[in-house]
Amino acid sequence: MQPFRVAIAGLGTVGAETARILMTEAELLGARAGRPVELKAVSARDRSRDRGVDLSGVEWEDDAAALAARDDVDCVLELIGGSEGVAYDLVLGAIRSGKSVVTANKALIAHHGAEIAELCESHDVGLGYEAAVAGGIPIIKSVREGFSGNRIGRIYGILNGTCNYIMTVMRETGRPFEDVLADAQKLGYAEADPSFDVDGIDAAHKLAILSALAFGHHVDFKNVHVEGIRHVSPLDISFAEELGYRIKLLGIAEETGDGVQQRVHPCMVKAETPIGQVEGVFNAVVAEGSAVGTTLSYGRGAGAGPTASAVLADVIDLAACRRVPVFGLPSSKLSPGRTAPVTAL
Ligand code: NDP
Ligand code: HSE
Repeated sequence: MQPFRVAIAGLGTVGAETARILMTEAELLGARAGRPVELKAVSARDRSRDRGVDLSGVEWEDDAAALAARDDVDCVLELIGGSEGVAYDLVLGAIRSGKSVVTANKALIAHHGAEIAELCESHDVGLGYEAAVAGGIPIIKSVREGFSGNRIGRIYGILNGTCNYIMTVMRETGRPFEDVLADAQKLGYAEADPSFDVDGIDAAHKLAILSALAFGHHVDFKNVHVEGIRHVSPLDISFAEELGYRIKLLGIAEETGDGVQQRVHPCMVKAETPIGQVEGVFNAVVAEGSAVGTTLSYGRGAGAGPTASAVLADVIDLAACRRVPVFGLPSSKLSPGRTAPVTAL
């Protein structure tokens, strides 16, 4: 059986753990894919850095772009991050070279999803981005495939592990925001620039992707109303608690009749509700479908293991030639975006 040959660009929190599992669980992954899955090459900035993974037999490229040009690679895993520059060039270069791509990069998909989906269609290659939304929760597959027989009325949830971790620890310990953010960075939860987390931008990237899948429109990030958690004080958190509430940063996309409203902002939720009980780095997504009713998906939203889990699920799907349109419909069938403005909260 022809092996499925992958290359990884980026060996940080997500890339190093993905490489470790590819190296140590090759037999399991190959059995699930129906053919061997081989890690052929990797790239990161600093070749001398110890990644905590035995990469013997794996070739190193100093320039990530070189991975897209290799003849012995079928699929490039883009685990660098950022909506422009190296990640953008690598993903588009790999697709143009006929390689499938797996990425955890929600910023890239939120900003360039339409262009990337069209390019995948014209080059007949697959794109996996399960890891881009809600970490280890298989929410892309759930919404795109599991709920494809439904009309979704609303989809919402806790989409940023860093913010939920910060507000949980602040409530439980009274420690200051900056201290707890530093912990989230050490744990590998935060973005390279953590303002993406705490200012709500990362949750907005994810919401724009979920909304496109749920409502069948092109990703419309620029019309997401975004507020973060910087202004949430320890006093706000403890007053909310006294009243029986928790403060959660929610991403909400809903059909209003005049279009889809997309918004990210802190909300007071009853402590005893399922969303109120989601603590620490965990995420949860509620989807309301016409046939299925209300569903709740829950799991770790960030960190090495959960994210690598989602990356590898995409790798196995692509290795096994299981492919669906990037946003669940051919690009030509996606509506241009019917965004309803957020007038009052
Ligand atoms: P890290 O910052 O830990 O790792 C980034 C990696 O990219 C590093 O290995 C770095 O190299 C490498 N890199 C940076 N610039 C270049 C370049 N120009 N050429 C080649 N390699 C480069 O990030 P994460 O692993 O946390 O995140 C990676 C992606 O996954 C991002 O898109 C992020 O949003 C997404 N993601 C992250 C999650 C998490 O929990 N961390 C969860 C879900 C998604 P070096 O190590 O040499 O500096
Ligand atoms: N920084 C992101 C978070 C990583 O904390 O949710 C997962 O996408």
